[in-house]
Amino acid sequence: MALIAVAALLAVRLRAETGYDLWLRYERLADPVQRASNRRFATAIVPPSRPSPTSDAIEQELRRALRGLLDVDVPRVPRPRSDGALIVGTPSTSPLVAALGWADVLARLGDEGYIIRSTTVGGRAATVIASAGEAGILYGAFHWLRLLQTGQPLANLDLAERPRLERRLLNHWDNLDGSIERGYAGRSLWWPDRDDRRLGDYARASASIGINGAVINNVNANPQSLTAPFIEKAARIADVLRPYRIRVYLAANFAAPKMLGALTTNDPLDPAVGRWWKERADEIYRLIPDFGGFVVKANSEGQPGPQDYSRTHADGANMLADAVRPHGGIVMWRAFVYDADVDPDRVKRAYKEFVPLDGRFRENVFAQVKNGPLDFQPREPFHPLFGAMPKTPLMAELQITQEYLGQANHLVYLAPMWKEFLDADTFAKGPGSLVAKAIDGSLDGKRRTGIAGVANTGRDVNWSGHDFAAANWYAFGRLAWDPGLGAGSIADEWIRMTWGRSPDLVATIRSIMLDSRETFVHYTMPLGLHHVIGGDHYAPMPENTDPRRADWSATYYHGADASGIGYDRTARGSGAVDQYRSPLREQWADPATTPDALLLWFHRLPWDYRMKSGRTLWDELVLSYRRGADEAKGLETRWMTLRGAIDDERYQAVLAKLRRQSEDAAAWRDKCLRYFQAAREGSPRGRR
Ligand code: GCU
Repeated sequence: MALIAVAALLAVRLRAETGYDLWLRYERLADPVQRASNRRFATAIVPPSRPSPTSDAIEQELRRALRGLLDVDVPRVPRPRSDGALIVGTPSTSPLVAALGWADVLARLGDEGYIIRSTTVGGRAATVIASAGEAGILYGAFHWLRLLQTGQPLANLDLAERPRLERRLLNHWDNLDGSIERGYAGRSLWWPDRDDRRLGDYARASASIGINGAVINNVNANPQSLTAPFIEKAARIADVLRPYRIRVYLAANFAAPKMLGALTTNDPLDPAVGRWWKERADEIYRLIPDFGGFVVKANSEGQPGPQDYSRTHADGANMLADAVRPHGGIVMWRAFVYDADVDPDRVKRAYKEFVPLDGRFRENVFAQVKNGPLDFQPREPFHPLFGAMPKTPLMAELQITQEYLGQANHLVYLAPMWKEFLDADTFAKGPGSLVAKAIDGSLDGKRRTGIAGVANTGRDVNWSGHDFAAANWYAFGRLAWDPGLGAGSIADEWIRMTWGRSPDLVATIRSIMLDSRETFVHYTMPLGLHHVIGGDHYAPMPENTDPRRADWSATYYHGADASGIGYDRTARGSGAVDQYRSPLREQWADPATTPDALLLWFHRLPWDYRMKSGRTLWDELVLSYRRGADEAKGLETRWMTLRGAIDDERYQAVLAKLRRQSEDAAAWRDKCLRYFQAAREGSPRGRR
């Protein structure tokens, strides 16, 4: 009874929350001593003497945060008059920063890099956030705020950072009518109408994690997005994002010249087509001078492309690259292609089409490559194109929206999956040739670098549908900034800023998050068994045999019958293992040396195959499904220990989602086991 009363009392004292504030809640530090000691490091703000929309945004953010966290209204002063000022600026916008003589180091860190240092200015102790560029002071300010939010010391700071990747983009699959392809959090933030408050808060949240670009429309692009009314809308969106140093990009439909009725062909080698695209680019740059460029999905899933005119992907990409190059723009040409004529095995097709084109793209073209060779499954081996296109900048494409990972219903923290990808060794130049190095340019000395994440944001109050889906937005940005960060440390930051700072709370939520991806794999993708779904990409559908395309089916991938299960990608089968370098191709060609997690990705095996555990394949499969369902239930019970420790609104909302998740996990277990059991017994029902 007494316990319940205490819990109720605590709950009452917690502010009701909707999730809208994300990791920028700036909740008051509970301990007055801590508040007081932190105030010593923020007695005044000294903004650049030459202000700009970005420095105004920084100042507003600092004031908002300090009011929230420390309960102070910090004055703005032209120069420090006492100890504890926060000085923000670049050598060219702040004479105080210029006088520090840091110009050389700042230049080395670049316009987006920054220094945060405790020092003395005019005889007063101060903290300086300095950069060679406006973007850098923005990122530096958010870094300093993160220190404060996560309870780290603010004394004796000496930090220098720069992003490892140049382009850190969100790809919004937003349609012009406001719907979002694979969006699970409501309608588009910008179409058909804009909500400027939300847009501004989107920009703040994205900038706080270093995002510097947004493709605002779907890769399945409506050609209308290149017409004047939409370019004007894009320009207005760009105006809101610009102070936060986020550039707008557009997805372009390759057949736009014809579809918009301007020309009779889209042939990239026809000079009239090249001219049309140049004119479009010029028009866009007139309204959006810092426009980033185009992403293109061509000759993929019914989209038009250069192959319609017997031209190559390079021909198409180069024509567009020439149109944006005079303005400094880039083209991201997607490698998500799987033409069935290229190879019977879907996962081999992109590599076969793109590797021969290496070296044939203009210097401002990226090949945009999904992390795995199939399509955002809960686990895939890395895409073999990483490490196989040494001359072409590769933009990695990750999916933040959880299309195949429980959408906005399941709690799946994606950073461990992305780390598995980034840390995978391609062996392209011997051991240590990590995917992260293929992306950050260090493997092949590439100058242009980038990463894109398919966004999970919408107009739901909490932005991403599930309060924990926001962690994936956050983690994407942090890894885009530095692929070397750990999934656990990113989770820690996010939890402290989003939920609370008590060690028990952080530890519980952290363990839930870090276990969640493997739990999801256990009940949806045991032993590397992939694509066991139907068209909704959500519910289990092992019987799915899609009449339109074999490779949209489930049966194509698992092939379960009395003789066994799995997809043979060894030399006896499709030979996909040969798209990887030694020693991976040898390791993955032999079931005995293939990790269990990818076993049925690379192999077709009999049901009584003896696993490393000593159990049969069937027994191991049963175990995984059961374990996954049990673990999903466990996420729910672990969450329930947090009752009263966080606000009831978000507690209940997450609890309801976790209940749904554990029901879904049980459904996955039951349906898949029933189906595979029947297949194993040779029952035609099982194979239907
Ligand atoms: C997946 C997804 C599609 C999307 C496609 C793409 O197949 O289901 O909705 O258009 O990927 O990345 O182009």
